[in-house]
Formats: sequence, structure tokens, C-alpha cells
Amino acid sequence: MKRIVVLISGRGSNLEALLAARLPCSIAAVISNRADARGLQTARAHGIATAVVDHAAQASREAFDAALAAEIDRHAPDLVVLAGFMRILGDAFVRRYHGRLLNIHPSLLPSFPGLHTHRRALEAGCRLHGCTVHFVTAALDNGPIIIQAAVPAYPDDSESALAARVLAQEHVAYPQAVRWFLDGRLSLDEAGRVRLDGEQRPGGALLVPQPDR
Ligand code: GAR
Repeated sequence: MKRIVVLISGRGSNLEALLAARLPCSIAAVISNRADARGLQTARAHGIATAVVDHAAQASREAFDAALAAEIDRHAPDLVVLAGFMRILGDAFVRRYHGRLLNIHPSLLPSFPGLHTHRRALEAGCRLHGCTVHFVTAALDNGPIIIQAAVPAYPDDSESALAARVLAQEHVAYPQAVRWFLDGRLSLDEAGRVRLDGEQRPGGALLVPQPDR
């Protein structure tokens, strides 16, 4: 059975979605850069090994990346899953896990990398917003896109209402992407493009607001 390691920094709702999906893998460990991350409690409640690699205790970004990689490698994972992990990872780290490092980001990348994505989408007047699961490259919130979910954004949305609408789709998209990887259907080819065997292509479109009938 394949092994995955999940990295978190906080709440851990994506971790919960991965657990609820009963994926055909062993979650070998959940690692956080913050000791107070709520997701660590979730992991422990499921009997999953946890570890904290505190970024504040490391002398440099490179030292943090190296300590994190050492902790990850103890568990010999096939896949490393960033689930709300809020640290920027350096080149060497990203190269070490090339093709087996996934991230989820709460926007339709390449729009709105970074923080406060929901607020920025509302300020920009977007009618569509969403989330993206991607392979990680060295640039922030960047890399070959695996799956995106689009949701409507309304001018009178609050940031929290829009965030909740997106998060519900994160909890669908991320377990699906991880399952594709575990099933051997998802990979990065030599040109750095996503390969997904047997992908289903939806028709239709989401128009917001809806056209008159
Ligand atoms: C999620 O919305 C995730 O997309 C985002 O952090 C949140 C974590 O929530 N990740 C990023 O912004 C990465 N750039 P969770 O801890 O409840 O899964």
C-alpha cells in the first residue's frame, strides 16, 4: 500500500476530507510547522503519527527545509500532500519531491497566488472563483494544474461565505487528485505536464449570473 505524508499549518479540514475519503493508502504521518495546529489533534484522534518542525526554531529557510525533509523521509512516503501548509519551500526541497508533491490553493490559479484570495477575488469583481490542486514547483502557488473547481462569486458575498463555498469544493477536489495519484493514473511527464489517464471531460459551462431563459 502506498504511503503519504500530509503537511499542515492549521485547521486541517482538508486533512479531514482526505481521511473521510478512505483512500487506498496509509497516512504515515501528519507534520506541522506549528505545534498548535488543530489538524494535529485530528491526526492523533485517528492514530496517525504526528510531528512538529517549528520554522521559528530553525536558523534559516534552508535549515527548516532540511529538517522538514528529514522528518518526511523517516516515513518513506510515495506522495507528500500540502494541505494548508503555509510556508514557502525552497528549490532543493521542491526538487527532492519532484512529481510527488501536491498542493491545494484557494483560487483558480494562476489568478491570486498568495494570501487573502477570497477577498481579492471579490475586490476584483470575479464572477467565478474556486480552488486548484497542482504539482508543486519552486514558485509560490505555482505548478502544473491537476484539477480545478469553479464556484460562483456574488457581488454581495462576504469573504467568509465565498471561502466556505470554495472550501466545500476543496474537500472534493483534493481527495480526488490524491486518489488518481494512488491509482497510478496521475503523473508528471518529462516536459513537466500533467498526465491523467482516462480523464472524464465535462461538457457545458458555468455562467454567472445565469443567462435569461
Ligand atoms: C485551505 O483553504 C487551503 O486551500 C489553503 O489553506 C486552507 C487550509 O485549510 N492553502 C493555501 O492558501 C496554500 N497557499 P485547512 O487547514 O482547513 O485544510
